[in-house]
Amino acid sequence: MAALLLGLLLFAMQSPPIPSRPQLPHILIIGVRKGGTRALIEMLSLHSSVAAAQNEVHFFDWESHFQRGLPWYLSQMPYAFPDQLTVEKTPAYFTSSKVPKRIHQMNTDIKLLLILRDPTERVLSDYTQVFYNRLQKHKRYQPIESVLVKDGEINLGYKALNRSLYYVHMQNWLQYFPLESIHIVDGDELIRDPFPEMKKVERFLKLEPQINASNFYFNKTKGFYCLRDHGRERCLHDSKGRAHPHVAPAILQKLYQFFHEPNKKFFELVGRTFTWK
Ligand code: A3P
Repeated sequence: MAALLLGLLLFAMQSPPIPSRPQLPHILIIGVRKGGTRALIEMLSLHSSVAAAQNEVHFFDWESHFQRGLPWYLSQMPYAFPDQLTVEKTPAYFTSSKVPKRIHQMNTDIKLLLILRDPTERVLSDYTQVFYNRLQKHKRYQPIESVLVKDGEINLGYKALNRSLYYVHMQNWLQYFPLESIHIVDGDELIRDPFPEMKKVERFLKLEPQINASNFYFNKTKGFYCLRDHGRERCLHDSKGRAHPHVAPAILQKLYQFFHEPNKKFFELVGRTFTWK
């Protein structure tokens, strides 16, 4: 009997600790929609000190969720060890004007990750997502050129364009958070070569360097980098990395021109440039 008890005690001492309880997020991936937010959270989860929420919680932007209060938000968070950082991603946060204030009220020191990509590419990706969603629901969809252009001009009423006006949204965030609290991940670079971008994220979050080059391998069939974690290999879901529709060069050119000034304003705002067309 004594031997059995001793055996149980030794087993308990050797078994790994159980994650204690959910914790409010220390890190938020705030967007941008179609910027590469899923890739970012999956890549960040390679780090053993990070515990990520599985779903997009939409706490700060959906009234019905926000009214449930912080206890509800907490219940949506993953179980984590005391030394782990928890992270949630809801890409719609970036473009919702009421969100920065609400997050600031919860935690003034929270670390924010924002992943951006070429605004024109982002619009095409946004269209592609809506196109497939409608296709699945057997709903009608408009060809891309008729949503992008109205009476020969760029259609300012198209919501996806507004989401790519990064400086407009960034101004809202900078009213509540200093630039040092917001790390901008270059989404185009994360596609091209994820490892260096993830090292920058690790540094910003003051995480012990752990993610390394062997965590990524290029999958020719998918045409994107995939993840290798403790020998297990996996790519992102098929809905990530879909081909975009063909757009007439003249319309593309109009789009690039449309974003030229807003991009310049964004670069000035954040004191950094990106290689957007
Ligand atoms: P596309 O599907 O238009 O190519 P989000 O997760 O925010 O919705 O962003 C989706 C985008 O992430 C994809 O847009 C894709 O380009 C990008 N992405 C970045 N890294 C990726 C990866 N390793 N695998 C698949 N998609 C990736």
